[in-house]
Amino acid sequence: MKSKYIDFKQKRSYEELKEPAEAIKQGKLVLFPTETVYGIGADALNEAAVKKIYEAKGRASDNPLIAHISSLEMLKRLVENVGEIEKRLIDKFWPGPLTIVFKKREIVPNIITGGLDTVAIRMPSSIIARKLIEYSGCPVAAPSANISGKPSGTLIEDIVDELDGKVEYIIDSGKVEIGVESTVVRVVDNVVHILRPGKITKEDIEKMGIEVYVEKQILGEYKEGEKVMSPGIKYKHYAPNTKCVLVYSEDNEKMVEEIKRLSEGKNVVILSKGQNIERYDVQNKLNMGKTLEEISQNIFTLLRKADKYNADVILIEGVEKEGLGLAIMNRLIRASAHEFIEI
Ligand code: TXA
Ligand code: MG
Repeated sequence: MKSKYIDFKQKRSYEELKEPAEAIKQGKLVLFPTETVYGIGADALNEAAVKKIYEAKGRASDNPLIAHISSLEMLKRLVENVGEIEKRLIDKFWPGPLTIVFKKREIVPNIITGGLDTVAIRMPSSIIARKLIEYSGCPVAAPSANISGKPSGTLIEDIVDELDGKVEYIIDSGKVEIGVESTVVRVVDNVVHILRPGKITKEDIEKMGIEVYVEKQILGEYKEGEKVMSPGIKYKHYAPNTKCVLVYSEDNEKMVEEIKRLSEGKNVVILSKGQNIERYDVQNKLNMGKTLEEISQNIFTLLRKADKYNADVILIEGVEKEGLGLAIMNRLIRASAHEFIEI
């Protein structure tokens, strides 16, 4: 059966979210937009409903989900205690693209936490997302909308084929605002550990006078059996079917020359920054944008588009690893399965 489609690209009354909210209450799945990426939502406190999310995505059962909330009352129902640093982060960044890991209360089912005693929580800034949660009256567990291992969904057109029929409703609000998933953090001994980088950056948190530690595995490789702060680190991610090679140098000339060299005699697609695109004399090239904000918005949809050329290889320009660039590089390194040439 096809999913019911709600077009929220045009201005509509939020009242129309009451129907999909009712579906969530009844234990069904709803594909909905947030400011970061689209999510597949279910009642976070209903085990059978959450199980359907794992099935729809083909997701490993030990990879926990984020519970999305619309009010601080909901937070209190889910967690034991909110520490001082967490309180400051909440004041500054919620609603917004920051997920915080807390010690969970008993009522949070193990299925959403992958058996951990912690739960990841975020209050999205997207009004559609918040209204949907508010009308459903329950926290909404939602992973990114994509089959596990594939690039996250930032446009409904990209994901409709893989998810149509697996959810009760699809709410389409067009292209999302940010394009990479939320920053995931956990506070340990007054230090904020970044488990997944996103739009809220290390620098943003440091500016508050808080110490920040970026987990090594964010830019490195996960080795079988290694201890991880976030189970998501263990799994293959964001990868098109075509092999991807990521190239970066602080010296832009060197990067462009290396990509030109790698493309010689091959059927390639190049993902290039707007500033460099004219310099590649190849048939297939895609413009990622000029700023980190544009690149972050476009990256997942372009990885999917690049895959359609059936090229030998997708060659991707890297960006600096600071600010939002760290989130972009984290996704690109994983999309290219660590085929990363840094010169
Ligand atoms: O922007 C986002 O966060 C999107 C939208 C839909 O809100 N959601 C999202 O969910 O990206 P997902 O499931 O694709 O990624 C959740 C990440 C995973 O890497 C998971 O391992 C980590 O959060 N995570 C969830 N619960 C955790 C926990 N208790 N401790 C550590 N990491 C956790
Ligand atoms: Mg995901």
